[in-house]
Amino acid sequence: MNAPDEKRLRTLFAGAGQGHLFDEWGVLSPEERARFLTQLASVDLEQVAVQAALLSRGPEEAGSQRFEPPETFPLRRDPRQQRLAQDAVAAGTELLAKGRVGFLLVAGGQASRLGYDGPKGAFQIGPVSQRSLFEIQARRLLAVRERHQVRAPWYVMTSPANDAATRAFFEQHHHFGLDPRDVVFFAQAMIPAMDPAGRLLRAGPGELFLAPNGHGGVLLAMERSGALADARARGLTQLSYFQVDNPLARPADPLFLGLHALQGAGMSSKVVAKRDAAEKVGVIGRAGDKLGCIEYSDLPAALREERDDSGELRFRAGNIAVHAIEIGFVERLTRGGLLLPWHLARKKMLVWERGELVQREGIKFEAFVFDALAASERSVTLEVARSEEFSPVKNASGEDSPASARRDLCRLHAEWARGAGFELPPPDPEGLHPIEVDPLLAEDAETFRGRPRRPLITERGHFYVHEHH
Ligand code: UD1
Repeated sequence: MNAPDEKRLRTLFAGAGQGHLFDEWGVLSPEERARFLTQLASVDLEQVAVQAALLSRGPEEAGSQRFEPPETFPLRRDPRQQRLAQDAVAAGTELLAKGRVGFLLVAGGQASRLGYDGPKGAFQIGPVSQRSLFEIQARRLLAVRERHQVRAPWYVMTSPANDAATRAFFEQHHHFGLDPRDVVFFAQAMIPAMDPAGRLLRAGPGELFLAPNGHGGVLLAMERSGALADARARGLTQLSYFQVDNPLARPADPLFLGLHALQGAGMSSKVVAKRDAAEKVGVIGRAGDKLGCIEYSDLPAALREERDDSGELRFRAGNIAVHAIEIGFVERLTRGGLLLPWHLARKKMLVWERGELVQREGIKFEAFVFDALAASERSVTLEVARSEEFSPVKNASGEDSPASARRDLCRLHAEWARGAGFELPPPDPEGLHPIEVDPLLAEDAETFRGRPRRPLITERGHFYVHEHH
């Protein structure tokens, strides 16, 4: 590759109002200059201009457009819905058995709220097994492989900041028993942050301040990295998307995958009823004829609190960030670049200015994957039980923390064990029965009841494993 041309880049950046980036050029060594030019050459100045134009707009407000609750496939089903659910389970099971489903994990986040120094997926969450978030999900995919004798490819999105550490963690754990050829890593893109006047920020005299482009970057990153072509070559038709922070996520749920397929949907979502108006989850809803998700921070207070005739929150379809996405839909969306809207995050940042690092207000730009729902002509919104499918690890303590996720895992698995006639291990001081069911053995109460199993007693409690292991 030819070295990027300094003069041309100077002209381009000056023309775009970004000439300040060269004002400490004189102090840079030849190597630093070369590196900086390479970084500058990769910046999409058209995109920067689009983003800078957003700065003069007011804060994002959902209130301007009429927002309506979505039509959901509910937890309490009428006879017609029960029949449809049965057909969907059969269709979803067939898709899994034929190896048509790929698994897509977004793990590019920075785990800053959790305060964990490392990829969030490496965090040990298993209440008895101490397994990491990555390993718990890996075992769900192992279960698909064993049950259906298929490869169950796993696409794992990292970010440049945690890519090496994530790959090393998988290597160190022998990919948790998965075939390394079936774990496809790819990193999302980093894009420059800017100040409130639209000037690009620097992290050093010859270095841009870059931040991950949000999980919406996953679609384009799949396309650019070749992961999408890989999925196509393997004969996949849909992707099961989930986040690294939810140990209860069920990426291989035949009901959801089947409903999505029977409906001929492009992209579908799972939701849980919001715990209360203040819960920090996005809500799925409809603006005009387009489906979307409004973040908790953007939902106007009046809508957040609004109740329907039965007294329930009107906007309660809490987004748990589990989606089924057609491969063809991703191909269509990413052809010629992806046009998802940008969301702005204003933050204090440590940036380089006039020879020193200073705290400044900066703006990061992120795309959100759920904005792609608007482009999906048909979509299923499936309501699931929170206790069975959603307990994210976000904060270091309190709600949505490691402690609450471990508690929810124990409670759920104790219920399965009790339902199958097991004697529970004695509760700990908090009243929790220290039980954890290996995802390789069962994913729900029904499969748990139906499988031969053997409790493996560990010094910390009971840990049920498959009879054959
Ligand atoms: C997210 C959703 C919210 C949903 C909630 C459910 C957004 C903006 N909001 O909230 O609607 O109710 O999850 O738990 O997503 N990630 C990347 N790259 C990035 C940013 C994030 O891969 O650039 C990944 C993270 O690793 C994580 C996931 O996306 O797996 C969610 O990111 P996070 O910022 O924690 O979202 P929340 O605000 O918790």
